[in-house]
Amino acid sequence: MDNMTRIDCLAKDGTLPKGELIELLSSYSEADRIYAAERARKISLSVFGRKIYTRGLIEISNYCRNDCYYCGIRRSNTKAVRYRLSLDEIYYCCDWGYGAGFRTFVLQGGEDSFFTDDLLVEIISRIKEKYSDCAITLSLGEKERASYQRLFVAGADRYLLRHETANETHYCKLHPSFLTLANRKRCLYDLKEIGFQTGCGLMVGSPFQTREHLAEDLLFMKEFGPHMVGIGPFIPHSETPFRDYQAGSAEDSLFMVSLVRLMHPRVLLPATTALGTVRSDGREQGILAGANVVMPNLSPLDARKNYLLYDNKIGTADDASESLATVKAKIESIGYEMVVERGDYK
Ligand code: 5AD
Repeated sequence: MDNMTRIDCLAKDGTLPKGELIELLSSYSEADRIYAAERARKISLSVFGRKIYTRGLIEISNYCRNDCYYCGIRRSNTKAVRYRLSLDEIYYCCDWGYGAGFRTFVLQGGEDSFFTDDLLVEIISRIKEKYSDCAITLSLGEKERASYQRLFVAGADRYLLRHETANETHYCKLHPSFLTLANRKRCLYDLKEIGFQTGCGLMVGSPFQTREHLAEDLLFMKEFGPHMVGIGPFIPHSETPFRDYQAGSAEDSLFMVSLVRLMHPRVLLPATTALGTVRSDGREQGILAGANVVMPNLSPLDARKNYLLYDNKIGTADDASESLATVKAKIESIGYEMVVERGDYK
């Protein structure tokens, strides 16, 4: 089989045998990547038209009990300037975001025990009370099933938890031993069973990642059936053990975005900030390769400059209206439009 045939098969059947995926990922050319992007873009156009869903990202805390080797807010990074937003600051972000047309708020943060289930329930209930027409997405890491259940009952609609890599051995090379792929997957299956629209995903080009690992990621996602998938390049952070590793490439990331779209026609797929960081037109290219979601940052200025998962993150000096204006201009420059909608998985 040649690569174009492999891409056609993926579009037709939604999957390929592992050996074929490895071959495709190992040998694809620029022409193959463009072909995959065209097919993926046609699928997103047929499902979503030229509408791009927007999520207002609120980075509520950069305290984290975890110690992932790739992440700039890992607990061992003593140089990180730690902060957490007050409840009033969080509500202010939502107020501003609602006025600006956001109908989904993403509360993202490190695994910070200050934000107990009780406190999160209070925050979720309050936002839902005021903005009953908005969706709340949480991105707060691994928790017990009972905690996820309480947050869902309080009104949270979606949960993002990237699986990071579906390969056990690779997972161990990215994380300290107290973190396991088995628990990560347990969280994902719990979230989905509870009723969250659930997102998984991965970094492309993370240290020690092989083409076989990427194939395993695609097959795991096929089996799991996510509602959302987050894909961006790995980017080194200077205060982590992976400081000297190379960033993942924009091209590999874009190719993965297209393959995910071919395999999951209706999935909610963001053009990520990391993609926009490794390539100035990364987010536009992401949309043209099959993405249909953007996540402008609503966090207060002094918070966002400290929410640094990797070096050179874009937008850390912009305020919320600048972040929104930048993203809006990019989307419109390629003939797409941002819409005032929750943008649920259908
Ligand atoms: N480069 C790119 N993405 C990163 N993330 C964490 N650290 C990095 C990095 N150095 C991603 C992880 C995590 C998400 C919130 O951010 O995939 O799940």
